[in-house]
Formats: sequence, structure tokens, C-alpha cells
Amino acid sequence: MPLRSILLSPVGRYFRTKRMFKQAANYAEKKQKPLMMIGDPCSGNYFQFMSNWFPNCDHGDITIDLYGCEKCHRMDINDMDSWGSFEDDSFVIMETGVLGFSEDIASVASQIARVSGGEFFSAGGNKGFFWESILYKTYSKKLNYTMNPFDFRESIAYTGRRLGRKERISIDFSDLIDGV
Ligand SMILES: C[S@@+](CC[C@H](N)C(=O)[O-])C[C@H]1O[C@@H](n2cnc3c(N)ncnc32)[C@H](O)[C@@H]1O
Repeated sequence: MPLRSILLSPVGRYFRTKRMFKQAANYAEKKQKPLMMIGDPCSGNYFQFMSNWFPNCDHGDITIDLYGCEKCHRMDINDMDSWGSFEDDSFVIMETGVLGFSEDIASVASQIARVSGGEFFSAGGNKGFFWESILYKTYSKKLNYTMNPFDFRESIAYTGRRLGRKERISIDFSDLIDGV
């Protein structure tokens, strides 16, 4: 039944991103830290008109996206040298559907833990058997993971799955921060 993959999960992700963006922006303001968004709000929805007419969030103080708009810092999340240009504990970070493009999710998560000092939010990737088995290939052949939503104030484990219904992923964020 593809209903979850093509309707329920995208709609859920849309509203979760909207809600979490407000929380992340408020949190960053309270902490007086700049907000780093990973994912261009102007693009990326399966249907581009959705991103144009109904963006699910706004840009951050900096927005990272490899193919982003002119407001974005065009950076490949897999480029570990580029992450080196950001200092430890310098941003609150929120990502929206980009970490699925990680080649090695543990390496990217460790940079996010370092740069955010652990203050990380994610609305997660799309879910559903049909999406995770086949449909993701119609969005991008470079999509490797579907990660679950994450709010550092509530969870320690950042979890998800390799697409193609392969191995489950669980990354302990507190270990990553201890290792910084
Ligand atoms: C699902 S969209 C995310 C933003 C979108 N507004 C959303 O939340 O639905 C995925 C984004 O990841 C970006 N992207 C793909 N590969 C990337 C990479 N290796 N590094 C950084 N960004 C990447 C794409 O340009 C695209 O805008």
C-alpha cells in the first residue's frame, strides 16, 4: 500500500519541518547562537511547485545545500575538508531531508555534532515500504539513507535505515560529542 510513501509521510514531514524550524530558530535565538540550516527551503520537494508555493521552512543564518539557491552556501555535506571551515560548537543546526545524501552517515553526523556542540534538529527523511524499497530511486540515485526525526533535547540516538531496506542505523550523539 503506497499511501504512506506518497502521501502520509511527505505531508507529515512537511508539517514536522515547519514546526521544528520554529523550535530550532527560537532555540538558537535564546542561546544567541546562529542557526545553520542544511537543505535549501526553495527546492527539494518531490514536486518543485510545493517548494515554490509552500516552503516548509526558511533560510538560516547560513544555509548549506550543494545545489541550493543564491542565498545558500553550496557545499557537499560529504566533503570533510569543507566542514573544517566551521568552528566547534558555533551553530545550532537543523537539517531538512539532506542527510540521506550522506555517503557515510556516521562521518557527516560527527561533523554535525562537532559544529553544533550537539544542538541538532532534524525533521527526518521520507518513510514507507514503497519509498524505501524502490520509489527513492526516482527522486535521486544518490540518496543512500532515510533517517528518523531527531531533537537533541529528547533523544540521544540518531536512527534510520540504509535505503533498499538494508541495515538499520543508530548513532549515539552523546558519544560523538564526547569524542570532540
Ligand atoms: C529533500 S531536499 C531538502 C530541502 C527541501 N526544502 C525539503 O525539506 O524538502 C534535498 C536537498 O539536498 C540537496 N543535496 C543533495 N545532495 C547534497 C549533498 N551531497 N550535499 C549537500 N546538499 C545536497 C539538494 O540540492 C536538495 O535541495
